[in-house]
Amino acid sequence: MSSLTDVPVTVLTEAQQRIQQDLLTALDAFAIPEPLKGAVYHAVMLGGKRVRPALCYATAALKPNTNMAAVRRAAVAIELIHCYSLAHDDLPCMDNDLLRRGQPTCHAAFGEDTALLAGDILQSMAFEVLGSRLYDQGAAVDAAIVLKQMQILATASSKMVCGQVLDLQAEGKQVDQAALETIHRNKTGALISAAIMMAAVAIFEGTDRAIPQLREYGQVIGLAFQVQDDILDIISDTEVLGKTAGKDEQVEKSTYPALMGLEQAQAYATDLHDQALQALDYFAEDAAALRAISQFLWQRKS
Ligand code: IPE
Ligand code: IPE
Ligand code: MG
Ligand code: MG
Ligand code: MG
Repeated sequence: MSSLTDVPVTVLTEAQQRIQQDLLTALDAFAIPEPLKGAVYHAVMLGGKRVRPALCYATAALKPNTNMAAVRRAAVAIELIHCYSLAHDDLPCMDNDLLRRGQPTCHAAFGEDTALLAGDILQSMAFEVLGSRLYDQGAAVDAAIVLKQMQILATASSKMVCGQVLDLQAEGKQVDQAALETIHRNKTGALISAAIMMAAVAIFEGTDRAIPQLREYGQVIGLAFQVQDDILDIISDTEVLGKTAGKDEQVEKSTYPALMGLEQAQAYATDLHDQALQALDYFAEDAAALRAISQFLWQRKS
């Protein structure tokens, strides 16, 4: 059973430091005209928990002394896709939000046209980074690994978009648990899972038993992540969240608390955290960072 202990933030803060430099290296490698450049740096470099990169690094920790080039590219690529998804999610035609990561949203700062294009370019930049040699340091990455990573990222990005359209369609409606789970698994779970699986294919053979265990872990925490996001929209406040609290209820979003009540949703998040830990039993000590991330996600306040 899960128990409350100190939030294991160290894994996250270390990942935040690692990814910040690699993201900057990636953005600096592109020649982008203003004002698009400003919008791209705004969407990527300012804040963010960097959970998806942390998942890439924590998965790589399952195999010490691994070639990190493919993992570092994956971490940057998944964060760029995530930042694109946020810039578009906040647009007036989507969730219409003005605050993100404690800053004005991309369109609030740069205008709708530029924010839309910032999302567009971040999407293609992610794939360019994945196929680049930006972090190789002499140790090239097997082309078969890069191809697998591109397929995983492309599939997950499409799922995210499908989840977003289902999310918008479900506003103001009562959807059942199966339908809500489909929305959450797609709009949020797919990218969370992809972060883990892109690192997994870089370090394990396709036949390794670690792969299905990690897939299970990714699917569970991917769903848990959005359940907690829905809960925090209710129980947290705007300053801590860095985005407008209470927004889901205002626009009648279909969420887990709306479906089953706040307490049931919190119990469900705990249940998912327990399931995530079970999926990691296979790995013993090497999965400490992955365990810490699940705990962080379950206990997080923003
Ligand atoms: C917010 O994601 C959007 C969802 C998928 C729920 P995060 O909570 O990971 O946002 P940042 O990156 O930390 O700002
Ligand atoms: C966002 O879900 C999912 C994606 C960005 C793909 P939300 O709309 O709930 O995310 P927040 O609450 O605005 O961060
Ligand atoms: Mg949304
Ligand atoms: Mg939103
Ligand atoms: Mg939300």
